[in-house]
Amino acid sequence: MGFRYLDARRDGPVEYLTLNRPDVRNAFNDGVITELTWWADSVAADRGVRAVVFAGAGPTFCAGADLDWMRRMASYSYQQNLDDASDMARMFLTLDRLPVPVIGRVQGAALGGGTGLAAICDIVVAADDAVFGLTEVRLGLIPAVIAPFVIGKIGGSAARELFLTGARFGAERAKALGLVHAVVPEADLDQTVVGYVKDLLAGAPGAISAAKHLIAECGKRSATDAATLCADAIARRRASPEGQEGIRAFLEKRKPTW
Ligand code: COA
Repeated sequence: MGFRYLDARRDGPVEYLTLNRPDVRNAFNDGVITELTWWADSVAADRGVRAVVFAGAGPTFCAGADLDWMRRMASYSYQQNLDDASDMARMFLTLDRLPVPVIGRVQGAALGGGTGLAAICDIVVAADDAVFGLTEVRLGLIPAVIAPFVIGKIGGSAARELFLTGARFGAERAKALGLVHAVVPEADLDQTVVGYVKDLLAGAPGAISAAKHLIAECGKRSATDAATLCADAIARRRASPEGQEGIRAFLEKRKPTW
């Protein structure tokens, strides 16, 4: 698929995805949703990808849903709006479930769905002057399809404050809430991302993917069910070629083959 709104490039095992509508601060409309869902499906199926860097072109990471597009949707029927919202929900779900680790690179603003996109990233690096916010209520809307992902990161208590006030908050607050993992001057964003990429490439790809899956599954289960799932996961991993190679490499004082 040729992209109109995205820029995707591969550098070795790292996929760089950049939202590319800087004129509207990378706001997403139905076209972006179609492209991003297609991109996520193809990356999920591509065994050559070991990490994704998710960024936004221009001064801002992402201004959320395209408000021009939302305005046009007032003339849609309920069913058309439901279909459209379901497409957006599928996009977030597909991104959240990517089997490879995703590093978010946030500069400028990440508002509404932009905060939602930060929430589906595994590791978020933000510029120290970046601004976040679930601003939807101030526009008469609600943070809806992004809610599970944002609440999963910041918890219900902070969600009550931030969904209900719509207040914007800075990168340090976002870090304290668990939405962001590193706050650096904007000039240091790329080198911080590179550091995380190096860390991710040091781990076994299958193990990282299994760990990501386990995090998602543990959250859905009772403590007893999670214990069973985790015991099964490590039992399989110990006997896996990657597990054997990793242990052997350590004992033989050499680098593993991945
Ligand atoms: N949807 C559609 N267009 C948007 C947009 C959005 N969510 N956010 C910004 N734009 C457009 C602006 O209308 C403006 O268009 P124009 O050049 O035709 O006037 C252009 O992008 C630049 O926006 P501007 O506000 O001048 O840029 P900025 O860099 O000063 O500020 C933001 C960027 C993101 C902080 C600011 O645009 C903003 O607060 N946007 C709304 C974000 C929001 O609440 N999103 C939630 C949506 S549910």
